[in-house]
Amino acid sequence: MQATACAHSNIALIKYWGNRDHALRLPANPSLSMNLGGLFTRTTVRFRDDLTADQAVVDDQLLHGAALARVSAHLDYARRLAGCTLRAEVISHNNFPAGAGIASSASAFAALSLAAATALGLQLSERELSTYARLGSGSAARSVPNGFVVWHAGSDHASSYAESIAPADHWLLVDLVAIISAAHKAVGSTEGHRLAESSPFQAARVATAPARLAECVQAVLSRDFERLARLVELDSDMMHAVMQTSTPPLLYWLPPTLAVMQRVRALRAEGVGVCYTIDAGANVHCLCLPSAVARVRAELLAIEGVGAVREASTGGGAWLESVQR
Ligand code: DP6
Repeated sequence: MQATACAHSNIALIKYWGNRDHALRLPANPSLSMNLGGLFTRTTVRFRDDLTADQAVVDDQLLHGAALARVSAHLDYARRLAGCTLRAEVISHNNFPAGAGIASSASAFAALSLAAATALGLQLSERELSTYARLGSGSAARSVPNGFVVWHAGSDHASSYAESIAPADHWLLVDLVAIISAAHKAVGSTEGHRLAESSPFQAARVATAPARLAECVQAVLSRDFERLARLVELDSDMMHAVMQTSTPPLLYWLPPTLAVMQRVRALRAEGVGVCYTIDAGANVHCLCLPSAVARVRAELLAIEGVGAVREASTGGGAWLESVQR
C-alpha cells in the first residue's frame, strides 16, 4: 500500500491570515492564489504492517517531536476514513531549498494528502482532497486544484475547500522571489494566525476581503494586470498592517524588503508589468508579466541585500506519480 504524489507551492494573491476555527483551520476570510510551476514537493507514503509508529523523512532529515506529530495527525484522518490502523513511512523531497523564501507547507501537505489517500484506496474528489489538505496547513488546500485557485472560507469542514477559477495556461505570470533572508522565521504562520485577532485592523481586513477577492478574480479572468497589481499589493499591505499591529507585533520586513517594494512601485509607474506580495517573511514575491521578467530580475539583483532571485511561473494542480496496492 504505497503511493507517490506531487504538489506545487502557491503564492497568495489575496491572503489567508487568521482562523475562525484553529483546530479545523477554517480561515477568517476566503483567499486566492496561483500555483508555482516548477516548485514542488514529491512525497511517498507507504503503510507497513511492521511499524509501531509513523516515520517521516523530509529532505533527508528524520522528523521528530511536533513536526512528526503534525504529519502523524494528518495521516490519522485518512486512516480513520479508510478504517486502517497501519503506521506509515513518509519520504518527502522539496525540489526547492528550505529557507528559500518559498513556503513548503502548502506543497507538502497537498502532496501528503494525495499520497496517503491514494495508498489507502480512498476515492476522494478534488474538493474532498482539498478539505483534507487544509487540515494539515491552510494554504495546502489551494495547492490541490489547478492554476488560479479560490479557497472558500466555508463554515464547517466540508464547506471550506479550494477550487480552480482558471487553469495554469489561462495566464502565464512569473513570480520572481527576491531572496532577502533564508533565516528560519521567528514566528511561523500557525502561531501568527492565532495573533491576527489581537490587531484592531483584522476585523476591517476580514470584512473587506471578499470584495477584494471578487475584484481580483475578475482581474485574473480578464487578464487585467494593472487591476491585479493594485489589489495584490493592497491585500499584502493590509495583512502586514495586521501583523505589525498585533500583540505581540510581527514585523517580518527587513530594510531590503522595503527597498524592493519601492523599486517595484517605481518600475510599475514606468509601465513595467510587476507588483509585489509578501508572506510571513522578509522575501518579496514579485509577480511579473513575461515581458517584464528580464528587466525586473536585473533591477532586483542590483538592490543591496537581495541575495538571489528565484523564478516560478503559473503551475498546475497536485498529481499522482505512482501507486502500488
Ligand atoms: C502569509 O497555510 O502556512 O502565507 O495553516 O498554520 O500551516 P498553517 O498556515 P499557512 O499560512 C499561510 C499564510 C500566508 C498567506 C497565504 O498563503 O495565504
